[in-house]
Amino acid sequence: MLHVIDLFCGAGGFSEGARQAGAVVVLAVDCWREALDVHAANHPDAEHWCEEIGTGDPAELAQRLRAFAANALPPGAPVHLHASPPCQSLSKANRASRDTSGGLRLTRFALDVIEAARFDSWTVEQVSAPAVRGLFDARGVLYRHLACDKLGVPSIRRRLIAASETLEDMQECIDRPLTLRQAMDRADMSAPPGFEVQRDGSTKDTRRRLDDVSYTVTTRSPILWNDARRRELSLSIATIKVLQTGRGR
Ligand SMILES: C[S@@+](CC[C@H](N)C(=O)[O-])C[C@H]1O[C@@H](n2cnc3c(N)ncnc32)[C@H](O)[C@@H]1O
Repeated sequence: MLHVIDLFCGAGGFSEGARQAGAVVVLAVDCWREALDVHAANHPDAEHWCEEIGTGDPAELAQRLRAFAANALPPGAPVHLHASPPCQSLSKANRASRDTSGGLRLTRFALDVIEAARFDSWTVEQVSAPAVRGLFDARGVLYRHLACDKLGVPSIRRRLIAASETLEDMQECIDRPLTLRQAMDRADMSAPPGFEVQRDGSTKDTRRRLDDVSYTVTTRSPILWNDARRRELSLSIATIKVLQTGRGR
């Protein structure tokens, strides 16, 4: 059984996927107390460290992670180290406060921790930005570009996944992802008259049809848009849940 250590775990998106794939999350680290509390509610047997990663020496954190694994797990138990450093300052969705060099700092730090900790396998998730590809290339790490809708997820989210081993070529999912209209339908939401397109909530003039896969879910996206009245409408929480999980009714 694979044991997972989740750095920058947030409320636990990666951890939940790892659990569904049959792994056990044993340690989760984040500096956001409330998100960590949600994680702890879903993974009560895991240990939770509320701390700011990246302030000290990566070798020191690596050493603490190794000591944790040696104390908490049977000898030889395989450990996977995952890190999802924050992406806001790198993401295209955040043009206003994009800060590429600052944004890469924690990704570099995560790669340093991974190198020093030498667990059995590892992954790093980041947004698909040229600066991130440049960093991965410079460090000689293997990575793949994932288009979530090609894997059946009902949103057009794009991500880079760097990993200790070559990831298998991902086959396109046989099931087509839900369109936004189908996701709304599963959540018993319907578009009022005139709200005929979706936008990504930014100031850009974005547009997709309701019968397309949704824009990536963020605090501002997607929204329904009424062109004639220039009015926007938020999606219901139930619709967002379907977009984030693919599940609903
Ligand atoms: C991309 S999100 C993580 C998403 C999460 N892995 C998931 O799958 O749901 C980045 C996380 O990094 C955390 N974070 C940002 N800076 C941090 C730091 N210096 N130390 C620890 N956590 C940090 C944020 O609180 C946020 O939860």
